[in-house]
Amino acid sequence: MSEGDALSDLYQELVLEHKRSPRNFGTMESPTHEARGTNPQCGDDVKVQLRIDGDRIEDIRFTGSGCAICIASTSMMTQAVKKGDVASAMALQERFRDVMTGKLETADADLGKLASFSGVRRYPSRIKCVLLGWHALGHAINDATGDDNGGTSA
Ligand code: FES
Repeated sequence: MSEGDALSDLYQELVLEHKRSPRNFGTMESPTHEARGTNPQCGDDVKVQLRIDGDRIEDIRFTGSGCAICIASTSMMTQAVKKGDVASAMALQERFRDVMTGKLETADADLGKLASFSGVRRYPSRIKCVLLGWHALGHAINDATGDDNGGTSA
C-alpha cells in the first residue's frame, strides 16, 4: 500500500468516526471567547467556544451543523488545541490553513493526525468545509470577548 492509500484510508476512518461522535461537541456555559464560521455556499454554520485562562485554552466546545468533513475537522481541531497554549493553537491554525490552501507542504507542517486531511486540497469546493471550524477558532481568539455573532466566511 502506498503512503497515499494509507493516508486516504486513515482519512476516511477519521472522518467517519468523528462525524459519528464529534469530540467536545456541545454548548459551554460562560465562555471567554466565541465565534462562528459559516459557509455561504451550503449554509453550514459552526460555533466555537473557548474558556481561556491566561495563555491557556482550558476548555473548548463547538456546536452547529456541517458536512462530515467540516464536523470531523472541527472535532479534531478541538482535540488538538484543548489544554494547550493560545500561541500554539494559533500557529497550528495557520499551518493547517496553509497546507489546505497549498501554501505549505504537508511534510513541513507538523500536523500529526490532522495531516490526513491534506487530500482535501484536491477538491477546492471542500476546502471551505475543512477550514470552517478553524476559521471560527481564529476569530474566537482574535476577536473581542463574548458575543461575536457576525460569523465569518470560510
Ligand atoms: Fe457545508 Fe461542507 S458542505 S461545510
